[in-house]
Amino acid sequence: MDQNEMKRQAAEAALEYVEVGTYIGVGTGSTANLFIDALATVKGKIEGTVASSVATAERLKSHGIPVFELNEVDGLSVYVDGADEANPNLQLIKGGGGALTREKIVAAASKRFICIADDTKLVDVLGTFPLPIEVIPMARSFIAREIVKLGGDPYLREGFTTDNGNLILDVHGLHINQPDVLEGTLNNIPGIVTNGIFSKQRAEVGLFGSTDGLKVLKPYEH
Ligand code: 5RP
Repeated sequence: MDQNEMKRQAAEAALEYVEVGTYIGVGTGSTANLFIDALATVKGKIEGTVASSVATAERLKSHGIPVFELNEVDGLSVYVDGADEANPNLQLIKGGGGALTREKIVAAASKRFICIADDTKLVDVLGTFPLPIEVIPMARSFIAREIVKLGGDPYLREGFTTDNGNLILDVHGLHINQPDVLEGTLNNIPGIVTNGIFSKQRAEVGLFGSTDGLKVLKPYEH
């Protein structure tokens, strides 16, 4: 089974969490795209979706799945999205596709966050994947210097502008032992729009495709 099939396994398993007659949030990336394809088979069950990026909105619409602005709906029953890294507590690094700000907003507006990925994304400690940070363009150099003080090695994502008109710094060399703390510290640097640590918005359920079958993580269920 290749990596794409493992992603598909997770994406299709997420259909179980789609609640009839509700609005759902949809993430961005190759795994989220496979979820959209699966969602198309049950699209009559839901009222509609809120997309976390322009690309996701276009893919949803191409399947005839209704897409709404977040401002048009009262709330979302569930958010389904991939991740670049996930630790055993389902704290995540996201933003490899540069959609982290809208992803964090839609996740926060949803009752539950279901993370879908292949099991190569599972790690003990976050930080091997460079941490994406969305920044206001005029603050880019200032923020880069502040990140160096925190022990990171920031690189500008060349030729990339987010859906919000901002830039991405990819920060290498972080060993994120306390995701909650670093997420908050970064949020306090003026000019950072969003950082890719999803700790406050961590996932509730993790569905990880693997060659041995689907791995389901529910660290908060007893
Ligand atoms: C996009 C993201 C994606 O969820 C993350 O990059 C994982 O993508 P993929 O499913 O293609 O591996 O955060 O901003």
